Amino acid sequence: MTRAQSFFHRRAFLDVALGGLALGAIAPFSSGVHAQTGAGAKVKIATIGAGREGGALGSLFAKHGYSVMFSSRNPDQLKDLVASAGPNAKAGSVAEAVGFGDAVLLVVPYTAVEQIGKDYGKGLAEKRLLLDVSNPIARRDGDEIVNWVEQQGGAGLATAKLIPGTHLVRGFNAIGSGFLAKAAHRAGEPLGVPIAGDDRDAVALAITLITDIGFEPVLVGGLAKGKYLVPGTPLGG
Ligand SMILES: NC(=O)c1ccc[n+]([C@@H]2O[C@H](COP(=O)([O-])OP(=O)(O)OC[C@H]3O[C@@H](n4cnc5c(N)ncnc54)[C@H](OP(=O)(O)O)[C@@H]3O)[C@@H](O)[C@H]2O)c1
Repeated sequence: MTRAQSFFHRRAFLDVALGGLALGAIAPFSSGVHAQTGAGAKVKIATIGAGREGGALGSLFAKHGYSVMFSSRNPDQLKDLVASAGPNAKAGSVAEAVGFGDAVLLVVPYTAVEQIGKDYGKGLAEKRLLLDVSNPIARRDGDEIVNWVEQQGGAGLATAKLIPGTHLVRGFNAIGSGFLAKAAHRAGEPLGVPIAGDDRDAVALAITLITDIGFEPVLVGGLAKGKYLVPGTPLGG
């Protein structure tokens, strides 16, 4: 199969997987355009969590022309990150970031998700997309929460329970922070980013954003499949 045939094959798969979603929603696949001109043009990005992964992902969006607000419980500590991410980036409190973003990247230790849901769930439910990059990891988060997540059916369904009513998609869960900048828009085949979500509009926006920053989103199924994106599981690697 040539690269072009393979591209249309994947695009057809996504169209079927999204239940016949309007082709316009995945048009950026063929254009490779960036934030200034693409369907993601006016989408503002906020991150909850601006550590290794949140900092690296938010920086990619900022460098691709998106307005980005990184957040921390101590936003003064983000000056170096903001400077390195360039003029499209700024820092704020978590509340300010939730107010700012159309799409919010949730990039925190899984133990923080419940409290974030309690404190900001209402605001997050109004966002077009909550991209959940966070993972329950036993050595960091403890067995109790990992077992609880399993009982809910895995990380996708668990996050939906902890932050209900959001337009949730999981993605980037097993792509290391140190690898992101190198992998974005790499030469040859783009790096695939498995994503899982039930909300068609949110999935379509995630596809646009992920494509814009130089990866190939691969929709693996609904949120229930989110459990397979955690590192150490089949799709997480
Ligand atoms: N590192 C990777 O390569 C990688 C790759 C894929 C997925 N992930 C996942 O991404 C998540 C973050 O990993 P990381 O390596 O980036 O961790 P990290 O460097 O330790 O950063 C964690 C971030 O979470 C924030 N945070 C912690 N508790 C919070 C709370 N209660 N409310 C708001 N913000 C809070 C911290 O902000 P403060 O400044 O407020 O403390 C910090 O910015 C994890 O779930 C991890 O499994 C990581």
